[in-house]
Amino acid sequence: MKGKNSLILGIETSCDETSAAVYAVDKGLLSNMVASQIDIHKKTGGVVPEVASRAHVEQILPVIDEALELAKTSLNKIDYLAVTHAPGLIGSLLVGVNTAKTLAMVLDKPLLPINHLEGHIYANFIREFPISNFQFPNKSKISTPNNLNNPKNPNIPKFNFPAVILLVSGGHTSLILMKGHSKYKTLGETLDDAAGEAFDKVARVLGLPYPGGPNISFVADNYRRKIPNSKSQIPNKSQILNPKIGDGNFFPRSMLGSGDFNFSFSGLKTAVLYAWQKDTSNNLTIKQYNNLRTQFAYEFEEAVVDILATKTIKAAKKYKAKTVSICGGVAANKRLREELETRIKNLPLTAYCLPLTKYCGDNAAMIGCCAAYRLKNKKSQAISKGLNFEVMSNKEI
Ligand code: KG4
Ligand code: ZN
Repeated sequence: MKGKNSLILGIETSCDETSAAVYAVDKGLLSNMVASQIDIHKKTGGVVPEVASRAHVEQILPVIDEALELAKTSLNKIDYLAVTHAPGLIGSLLVGVNTAKTLAMVLDKPLLPINHLEGHIYANFIREFPISNFQFPNKSKISTPNNLNNPKNPNIPKFNFPAVILLVSGGHTSLILMKGHSKYKTLGETLDDAAGEAFDKVARVLGLPYPGGPNISFVADNYRRKIPNSKSQIPNKSQILNPKIGDGNFFPRSMLGSGDFNFSFSGLKTAVLYAWQKDTSNNLTIKQYNNLRTQFAYEFEEAVVDILATKTIKAAKKYKAKTVSICGGVAANKRLREELETRIKNLPLTAYCLPLTKYCGDNAAMIGCCAAYRLKNKKSQAISKGLNFEVMSNKEI
C-alpha cells in the first residue's frame, strides 16, 4: 500500500444517485458529491432503470470533477479508485464501473470493486475531515462517525465487535453479524419486500410522492407530534370511517414470532392497501382524507419500526453484540433511530452507533471509506483483482 496519505476516488451509481467522493486513507473524507435523480423519478413514482442509467451518463463526469475540486485535488493525485460493482441496477452500475475502469487504466492506478451493501455498513466509519468544528457530546451512548473511536473522548463508546447491523434500504433488509472488518454473517433477511420498498409502495397507495420513506415519515410525524400534548388536536375519530386507526397498533407485525431473523413486509403493505381502499371508498372531505392519511402513515411507520427494532434487539441479545448499528436509506428514519436508542438503553453492554443521516442514502463517501478500511486491513490483497471484475445485480455481502 502506498504512503500514509493515499487518496481514494470513490464512485457510486448503483441506483438513482450519481456520487463521487475523495477519501484520504488516514485523514478521512475530503469531499462527497451526490447528484440525486429524485426529481426525474418523481414523475414516474419510482425509478425507471433506463432513465436512471442515462442520467448517470450525464452526471458522472461533472460529479467527479466537483468532488475533486471540493477536495482541492486533481485526478493525477489520486492513488486508488473504488467503485460500487454490485448489487444494483445493471445499467446504472455499468456507468460507474466503466468510468472507474477507464480512469484506472488511463491513470494506471489500482481499482477496488466494492459491494454496495458493505459500503452502507461503512457509512458508520466515515470520518469527516477536518473535524475541528465538531462538538462532541459529553456523555453519550451513541456514536456517530465523527466521534467514533475518538481517543480524545473516552465517554463515547467504540464500535466494537461483534456488532449486529440492521441494513435497511430500498432493495435490502438484512440483519448482519459483523465479527470484524470484512467479516460478515447474514443472520436474516426479508423474504419479500425490502423495508424501503414497502415505504415507497405504501406511499404510492396513500398518494404521497416518491421517495416514499421520507414523505411517509414527515406525514406520520405531523400526527405523532399532536398525540402527547393536546388530544384535542388529534383528528376527531368520529369523523373518520375507521376509528381504530391512530393508536399505533393497527397493522400486523409479521414474523415477529418466527423464531428466526427474517422479515416480511408484503403482508403489511397489502393490509395497508385493503384498509385504505375500504376507508376511502365513501366520500370524504379533503380534511377527512388528509387526516386519515396522516393516521395511516403513522400506523404503517409504527409497524415497520416495531418489527425492525424487535428483531434487531433479539439478535443483539442472542449474539451478545457489543455494538448495534443501522445503515441504508431507511436508517435515516428518525422514528427508527429513536426507537432503537430507547430499546438499546436496556442493554448495558451494547453501544449504539449510527451513521450521520446524510450518509444513510446512497453516496460515494461510504464506498471510499470501505476501500480505505480494506486497504488498511488487507493491504495489497485487496487490490489483486485488477480490472477483471463484473457488475452484478444481486450479490450477497
Ligand atoms: O440506501 P438507499 O438510498 O438506496 C438503496 O440502496 O436502495 O435507500 C433508499 C430507500 C428508499 O426506499 C427510501 O424511501 C428509503 O430508503 N428512505 C427512508 C427514509 N429516507 C429514505 N425510509 C424511511 N424513512 C426515511 N426517512
Ligand atoms: Zn443503497
